[in-house]
Amino acid sequence: MNKEDVLCFSTGFSVNSGVLASVVGRGDYIICDDRDHASIVDGRRLSFATQLHYKHNDMEDLERVLQKLPQESIKLIVVDGVFSMEGDLANLPEIIKLKHKYNCSVMVDEAHGLGVFGKQVEEFVIILV
Ligand SMILES: Cc1ncc(COP(=O)(O)O)c(C=O)c1O
Repeated sequence: MNKEDVLCFSTGFSVNSGVLASVVGRGDYIICDDRDHASIVDGRRLSFATQLHYKHNDMEDLERVLQKLPQESIKLIVVDGVFSMEGDLANLPEIIKLKHKYNCSVMVDEAHGLGVFGKQVEEFVIILV
């Protein structure tokens, strides 16, 4: 992966369990696309964060959800970069705009992006912004 530091997990499922439970906790929010992979939902359960959903790839609905959350709370938008069942791509440019507007972090699960997007993204499996 050409990175100085890498954290290796044996499965994608254990990535989402391990990473989500490490970066958010009780009182925080995870905001998911409603087609996110089931392992993200399970990771959220282990984290005890509050989970909210927006309609698949609907940026207006994502904004509707974000508007309701306290400005200073810890908010993590978690999204598949490439959705495994639909083959759709996440609208990352818009998600990043909303991240800045509503003071969130973003985690992209690139389980299906690896090997699809060329060298730029091949270096990442999970990207936290
Ligand atoms: C987006 C996404 N994340 C995580 C996983 C889980 O990966 P694994 O099957 O290696 O546990 C999958 C599996 O297809 C997936 O599509």
